[in-house]
Amino acid sequence: MVIKEAKFLMSNTDWQKCPKPVLPEYAFIGRSNVGKSSLINMLTERRALAKVSGTPGKTLLINHFGINNEWYLADLPGYGYAKVSKTLRTKFQNFTLQYLHHRPNLMCTFVLIDSRIKPQKIDIEFMEYCGEKKIPFVIIFTKMDKLNQREKIENIEKYKETMSEQWASFPPMFLSSSEKGTGREDILGFIEETNALFHN
Ligand code: GTP
Ligand code: MG
Repeated sequence: MVIKEAKFLMSNTDWQKCPKPVLPEYAFIGRSNVGKSSLINMLTERRALAKVSGTPGKTLLINHFGINNEWYLADLPGYGYAKVSKTLRTKFQNFTLQYLHHRPNLMCTFVLIDSRIKPQKIDIEFMEYCGEKKIPFVIIFTKMDKLNQREKIENIEKYKETMSEQWASFPPMFLSSSEKGTGREDILGFIEETNALFHN
């Protein structure tokens, strides 16, 4: 897919005020600092479309971007940073969950996982929640450039092992590096194929 146009549309906390759901949409979610905004910039080949920061918690709203007038991309706030609390409802902002439940054109949620660290409870919980609520998702492992060959294999294997405790089969998984552009073709290819399934 060639990205001819990528533009910021709006920021929101209310799913009802998001852009009209006339195009297929993909949401990017994951723990703070996992590399959501960097991945969005890498995919769109725009250096500063989404704000990148070394400080966790940069993205606090649902940010919508319009790509090629063909699809929407939503950058969601990171979870598991600002509030350490017991219930899922407060761990993931309520408005983010509302968005995931109600957005009719949401084709798929990309759950970003930092490839360097061992499986985190909060990510596993979030995917479990998506499974229960029938929110479609795939996994994108980020920051692969920080791993050597052996770690790449080991860490992904470890992840699959942990997931297999709860899942009979795995969702699609993509390996990415925003530094190196790894995974770009595969992820955009997936979006292109999925766009074809959208019926307005
Ligand atoms: P919040 O908006 O705070 O939730 O963070 P985010 O998930 O959007 O992360 P962001 O893209 O801002 O990146 C966080 C930090 O990780 C920044 O310092 C990035 O430069 C770094 N980073 C992101 N992706 C990569 C990657 O693929 N490789 C490397 N080496 N660093 C990365
Ligand atoms: Mg961000």
